[in-house]
Order: sequence, then C-alpha cells, then structure tokens
Amino acid sequence: MVKVAIDGIVHTAQTDELLIDLINRTGGSVPQVCYHPQLGPVQTCDTCMVETNGRLVRACAAEVADGMQISTKSVKASAAQVEAFDRILSNHMLYCTVCDNNNGNCTVHNTTKLLAIEHQRIPFRSKPYEVDNTNPFYRYDPDQCILCGRCVEACQNVEVNETLSINWEDPNPRVLWDGGSTIGESSCVSCGHCVTVCPCNALMEKTMLGHAGFLTSLKKSALSGMIEVVKGVEPETGYGMILQVSEAESAMRQHRIRKTKTVCTYCGVGCSFDVWTKDRHILKVAPEHGPANGISTCVKGKFGWGHINSEDRLTTPLIREGEKFRQASWDEALSLVATTFSGIKAKDGADSLAFISSSKCTNEESYLMQKLARAVIGTNNVDNCSRYCQSPATQGLFRTVGYGGDSGSITDMEKADLVLIIGSNTAESHPVIATRVKSAHKLDGQKLIVSDLREHEMARRADLFLHPKPGTDLFWVNAISRYLLDNGLAHTKFLDQWVNGLDDYRKSLETFTMEAASRISGVPEETLNTVAQMISEAKCMCILWAMGVTQQSQGSDTSTAISNLLLITGNYMRPGTGAYPLRGHNNVQGASDHGSMPNMLPGYQSVNDPEVRHRFESGWKVPLPSAKGLDNHQMVEAIHDGKLKAMYLIGEEMSIVDSNANYVGAAFAKLDFFVVQDIFFSNTCRYADVVLPGAPSLEKEGTFTSTERRVQRLYQVLEPLDDCKPDWKIIQDVANQLGAGWHYQHPSEVMDEIASLTPMFAGVNYERLAGYKSLQWPVAADGTDEPLLYTKRFAFPDGKAQLFPVSWIGPTDQADAQFDLHLNNGRLLEHFHEGNLTYRTEGIREKTPDVFVEVSPELAEERGIQSGTWVQLVSRYGQLRVRAVVTDRVHGHELYMPMNSVESPVNRLTSSHTDPVTNTPAYKEASVHMNVLAEVGENPLPRINSRFGHPTPQNGVEVERKWKRPDYAPPGNGLVQLQTKK
Ligand code: SF4
Ligand code: SF4
Ligand code: SF4
Ligand code: FES
Repeated sequence: MVKVAIDGIVHTAQTDELLIDLINRTGGSVPQVCYHPQLGPVQTCDTCMVETNGRLVRACAAEVADGMQISTKSVKASAAQVEAFDRILSNHMLYCTVCDNNNGNCTVHNTTKLLAIEHQRIPFRSKPYEVDNTNPFYRYDPDQCILCGRCVEACQNVEVNETLSINWEDPNPRVLWDGGSTIGESSCVSCGHCVTVCPCNALMEKTMLGHAGFLTSLKKSALSGMIEVVKGVEPETGYGMILQVSEAESAMRQHRIRKTKTVCTYCGVGCSFDVWTKDRHILKVAPEHGPANGISTCVKGKFGWGHINSEDRLTTPLIREGEKFRQASWDEALSLVATTFSGIKAKDGADSLAFISSSKCTNEESYLMQKLARAVIGTNNVDNCSRYCQSPATQGLFRTVGYGGDSGSITDMEKADLVLIIGSNTAESHPVIATRVKSAHKLDGQKLIVSDLREHEMARRADLFLHPKPGTDLFWVNAISRYLLDNGLAHTKFLDQWVNGLDDYRKSLETFTMEAASRISGVPEETLNTVAQMISEAKCMCILWAMGVTQQSQGSDTSTAISNLLLITGNYMRPGTGAYPLRGHNNVQGASDHGSMPNMLPGYQSVNDPEVRHRFESGWKVPLPSAKGLDNHQMVEAIHDGKLKAMYLIGEEMSIVDSNANYVGAAFAKLDFFVVQDIFFSNTCRYADVVLPGAPSLEKEGTFTSTERRVQRLYQVLEPLDDCKPDWKIIQDVANQLGAGWHYQHPSEVMDEIASLTPMFAGVNYERLAGYKSLQWPVAADGTDEPLLYTKRFAFPDGKAQLFPVSWIGPTDQADAQFDLHLNNGRLLEHFHEGNLTYRTEGIREKTPDVFVEVSPELAEERGIQSGTWVQLVSRYGQLRVRAVVTDRVHGHELYMPMNSVESPVNRLTSSHTDPVTNTPAYKEASVHMNVLAEVGENPLPRINSRFGHPTPQNGVEVERKWKRPDYAPPGNGLVQLQTKK
C-alpha cells in the first residue's frame, strides 16, 4: 500500500493502482474521454492530464507511487485538459438536443460540461468520408468520431475479432474496418463491443436512431437546419446555454425510456445487460455490469431480439380441431388440459404422462414443472434438453469430483497458463467465453491447444491444433494420462493427498499407449507427445469441452477421462484450473439443477433416497413416487411402445432437435394428447392437441443459471404480449386446474421454497440476487457461494476425488462403402440452435439466411462441387437437400452442417444411438452418402457474412503511431511525461 495526495488530500492506494482509478474511487473528478475501466489505458485523448512534481502525466496511464503529490486542477493541468478536449471537439459537432445519444451518459457532452467549455477554440472540421450504414445493426458516422480508439481497443483486445484500426498516418484519420472495407463486407461479427464502448454518437445502434430523442425522428433536412441554428447562436450564447436546453430534453427522455436488467436468453455464458425500451420498442442492449461479461456480448445478445415483437408470436391458446387449430380462451384450454390429463391418469396411471421442461425457461419454471409432474400427477417422467448435450459431462464430473458443474469461473479460464479445448467451437457457441481465452492468448502468453474435427477460429489461433478421427478423443486423452504417469510427469503430491483409485486407474490405462492412440486417432505420436509435454509444463490448466465430446456414444466416458487427466496433473482446487463442460442453452444448467430430471429432485437429490423424498413430501404435502422416471429418449420409445399416452412440453423444438427427427415426429403423432407451450407455432406444435402461448425472457421475472453455476436475476422488461403469460403462471394454472392449490404470487416465492428444500441453494434468495448481484452454487444458508469449487475438499464423503477407469469401445454409425462421408454438426455464431428465435431478427437473416453443408476443397474437387451446389445427403435414417459451402474449415471426407434449419434439420440424418450411461444421442456419429445434384444456386453464405472478411490484427489502437504524427504535440507545452504501454 502507498500514500498519495490528490489535491491536498492523502489517500491510501495499492501499489499497482492506476492514478485515474484512485481519483475515481475517491470521488475526484478529472476528464477522461478515452479511458474505460474494462479497456484499460488507451491514451489517445490526453484529457486526463494531471500535474505531479511540476510535470504533466496522463492519469490513466500512470501508476501510483508512494508520496506522490497530484494536482488535478493546477493551472498547467487545467490548461492541458482544456487544450486536449478542444482537439476532440474539432472532430465532433455538438448538436446534443437533436442527438439520439443525448441520454445523460454521453462522455463528450458531459466533459464539455465538466470543463465548462463555452467556445470551441479549434473549429469543427468535417472529415471527407460518408456515414457507413452497411451493417444491419449499427452505423458509423466519421464526422462525429473523436478518434478516441475505444472501439479499436475493444475489437482488437477484448472481443479479439481484430477488425478495427485507425489509420493514424492519414491526413484525415478515421476508424477502419478490415483496413478500409465497408462495415457490411468486413470481418465484423456484429458483437457490438465497439458500439457499446463508443463514448459518443459516432457508433450507434440503428434501433436508437430516430427513436431515442423527442426531435431526432425529424427529417434530415429539418435536423440539419436545427443544427445550423444551434451553431449560429453558439458564438453569442456559448455552450453553457445550449447544453442546458439539451439537458432539459435529455431529462424528458428519462420518463419514457426504461432501462431494465435482464440475462441473455441464448447461450450458457450468462451475459447480463440493461435493455433500453421505449414502449415495446427495444432501443438498445447496454452491457456493462454483468459479472460474466462486463461490456461483452455476441451478436445474439446485443442485437438478436427480433423475436420479441415478431408478428407471428403466439398470443392466444390454440386447440386442435381435426387438421386445424382454432383460437380458444385460457379457461377452455386449461380445462381441456386438466380433464384430459386426469382422464389419462385415471385410465392408464400417472406414468402414462410425461413432462419436458425448457432450458430457455427460468429456474423457477423448471422447478414448478417437475413439481407438477411429481406432486400433482405423481410421476418422475420429467426431463429437459440437457439430456441432448450436457448429461454426459455432468456424469463424468459426478464420477470423479462430485459436482456436475464447471469447477470454476470464466476468470479461471483467463488465468490459466494453458487452455485445452476439446470438441468445442467456442468462438461461435460460447462467444464471450472465447473472447476471454483469445485475449489471454493474444496478450498474456496463455498457451492454447485445440482438438476438433474442424479448423474453426479457435483452432486457427491455437499453438497446437489436433485433428483426431471422429469419436476418438477418449483414446488419446487416456494415452496422455498414461504417458504422464509413466514418465513421472503426474502430480504425485496432489494424487497422494486428494485422489482415490490410482492403482485401478493405472491398470485401466494398460492398452492406452501413445502408439495405439496415434493409430486410432490419426494424430501423430509426436504431436501427442507435445501435448503431454505442454500439459506437464503448465502451472495451471483448464480444459473446456462441449458437444463434440458429449454427443458421442462414449460421451460420459470421454468426459470422465478428461476429468481424470485433470486429477492426475493436479489441475483442480486452484485458480486457473479445472473442468469446464460449456453449457449450451442459457439455462440448461438450471433446468437440471432444479429437478427436471427423471431420477433427481432439485439439487441433484435422488428420488429413491427416502430422507430426501420425505423432506419434499413434507414440504409439498403429498406422497412422491420413488422409482426413476423416463428420460426424454425413453419417452420417445415409450410412445412408440404405446406405454406413454400424454405429454406436456415447454419451449423445446424437440421434433427437430432430438436425434433421428423422423422417428421422434412419428412418436409425437401417436400421442393421445400433446400439450406444447411456446412463444411461436414451432414445428413441434404441429403435433399438438393444445398449444399454450408462453412468454419470452424479456416478459417475465425469474433466474437463470449459467455455465459457471452463476444464478442471476432477470427482471421484466416488457409486459407479456396480448394473452401470453409467463410460463410459471401457466404451469401454476395447469396445476390448480388439477386441484393443486398453489398460490405463488411472484417467482421469488418459488425460489424461497427451492432454498428451503435444497441444501445446494440454501442461501439463494432474490435479495441476494438483486440487480447485478449473483451467486455461484453451492450457496450456504448464510449466502456464501463458491466461484471456485473444491478449494477445501472434493464433493465426496471423504473429501477426496475419485479416478474412474474407462475403457474404449469406439463410435457407432461409422462410414462404410455406402455411407462414405462423416457428417459432423453443431452451432453457428449468428443463430441459436434451430433458429426459431434468431431467424426473427432481420439483420441476422440477412447475414446468415440459410443452412448449408461445409465441404472440404479436396472433396469438392473429387465430386465436382462448388459453393452453392445443391446436394442430397442420405443417411441410414433420412435424407435432405442442402447447398454446399466449400471451405478448408473441414478436411477430407468430413462434412459439417450447422443446426440452423427447421426446414432441413440435420437431425433427419442422425441416429437413435446413444451414450448408454445417460441416453444422450450420439449426434456427432453420423455417416451419409452424398448425391451431387445438377442445380447450382447462390452461395448460401452471402458476401456480407463476416466469414469472408480479412481481419487486421494489431495490439489495440497503437496510439504510439498517433504520437509520431508530425502535427501531434502533447497538450501543455511539452511538459508531458509520456508513458508507453506495458
Ligand atoms: S467485431 Fe464488429 S461489432 Fe464487434 S467490436 Fe469489432 S467492429 Fe465492433
Ligand atoms: S467510433 Fe471509435 S474512435 Fe470514434 S468516437 Fe467512437 S469509440 Fe471513439
Ligand atoms: S448468446 Fe451467449 S455469448 Fe452471446 S450475448 Fe448471449 S449469453 Fe452472451
Ligand atoms: S483518459 Fe484519454 S488519455 Fe487518459
């Protein structure tokens, strides 16, 4: 700690604290246009000059030192600040009253006020560039750009898409996309980081333009006239008066613009942000305080909200009449659901009904869904879509370390020396997590190994890329473990102290030699040796994996093998280490956590544990079934077998996202009674008898649990549309029609009940989750949570972890002479899953209008295919037509098809083979035959897709190049002591 005097007052600070952070923390005020705490010092604006020992320094770049005497208001400092800001104003026209960014948070406006600027000494100079409107979501106005470089810093070093730069050497510098492309044709992935951090109106969301202000929707000619009037009066009145008028207008806006915190509805990263709305119009998404994401989002969270006000939202219950549906009142629909469920239960028993909860719904809704199944109907037939992706990872962790969740936080992934990614296209499936890994790799020397079938972005960035044969990860991971044990590279002290089962585990590895691993996986032995070496040299390693591992017939065993590897290398229990099976949907973690599983009550408490059941029976005041119910794979079989008669399914497009979709659809057609609750008339609704209109995330309250076990609150941004209801209310209505007598007034009451029955969530309540506060489970009754698991013990009775031997079986559905190509499948950055939500955002549709199949250049040449060629893919289970994209992301005879299609879903081609431990479908094990059709269409990826761009990597904004300009001199008559970036 050091002592620093600021304007005569002594403060205590940490040695490495930035002066600007100390000033801000202690309530001081110094101008700071380019500084943003989440970007660090950018050093382009020079407005933060302060005086120390007679010299001027940038407060944003200087670290505190003991005994420092700082003056923020000395004559020299003030003069330098004003001079620096004058230069900024020469790049920006102040027309605040008619500016959509006049919302109280414009840095340029606020700094003008702070410095009491009355007149602009350096006149505004227009730049010789047009406004760029070519991105569907945001626009860049060079004339308003103050060249602060925040956007460049965010794009280069936070998002690490490396699209933006500033041409500092040009007579008229500006922000460039891919070094000079239009935004629309650049590598920009529309993540929105740049727009979020822009301190003024140079970069703005198009949804703001013409909507935020009272006068901003005026025609351009009228606006220009008003701007001229303002400029005309400025010499006489000064800016003070003009700013007062704009502040009055800004204050009026506060009454009609609502800012509501929510949590993203798409992936499991758990980004949270404020949503700005004016009536039902979404003005913008503003990320800043989210504990998982800060300023970060991807295109879906920032801009993908077209589904909310989509014209085809379901707004009223529907009841089937023959082949058609008719609108119905809630009373009629609920009464039909209740009487039919009761009738089927009375005739065929409670186990002839089944319930599927949604990983898009809240924790409270999943809890109520399983309570409805168990306490009201009396069956454990309840599941959720984690069966389709995450159950094997959960199983692997249950077997080895005890808790079925990520063992640490996103910050641990940032801290690791080495990140090993297996079967995860992180940059597209978990984009904000990818930014943290990309940034640590780019800036902090983190090492990255990627194993995948495709050479996706993370693979291209990796220090080492492995391309094993499909479905062989278990083998090479086990071989690495054996190599480390055999060569004395395991962490013996950790094993001795914390791990059981070493002897049996060592024996189980007998066949897993490097030579055999190389033969089976196709990865050269030398490469595998390098992997082992890198792992042994890393002080702390995190392993990230996803559906490339879990959606295999040995998904549970491979996940187990990964955790075993972490154990023998001592990569648990410390920051920067651990297992990270990245969760797909926003609340796939929470849906299982809260008991939508056939064998577990909330908090992973077994249904056949009498003590647990007794606790829930006392709480719910009903007897509960003790036998494990059907999982969703078994439900489909049971329908085909005539044992399951009725189903209630919420928010899942199961007829196309389950594997072997034709078989699943045929099952649904056989149901006696099918209730589907959704926000759109999905493909699955086609099989329904009753359709109930639920509400999307923005229209309800509740909590989601992200991949890092982080429970976060979402607040209601908008009222439910028309006759829609939040799903928790609908489930309660159904339960009450069946005589349950529930009286929940608010989801917080549901959470209180969960906490009272579930030790894992004992300390969770809405007060502790208020605003941006969050908790990472398990949460003790006093509210203590565990961002990093296993700091004191593993979650087994003796506190030790367990090495769990697994053997090699090999993948199903292998290629043969007839089905000669391997078909891989997965997510795409722009769309979430099948695209039911994301296709309703016009800009996303523009950039990524359709599904496609990726074909390698080798295969394209062999079969005469070009991008746009229609092909028919035929598997042992179905067929479909799709256009090809020729790309070196895939190799040889391996194809890749993203999931984003309702019309041609890849699951028409996948099988019913599953991982026997969890019944998770082996989606990734599919073989197809390809018929090349004569028809050649457009490339399904349009030229405006970011994949065609050419990024321009550099380390941030490279301000040193600005300082080298002949016309640049630091403000303050050369008194400045320049600091260069670390
Ligand atoms: S990728 Fe595009 S939206 Fe994201 S920060 Fe870079 S330029 Fe901005
Ligand atoms: S566009 Fe970039 S450089 Fe220009 S003002 Fe905005 S953040 Fe600063
Ligand atoms: S989709 Fe995932 S990464 Fe993108 S904003 Fe939402 S939570 Fe964040
Ligand atoms: S805040 Fe811009 S140089 Fe310090």
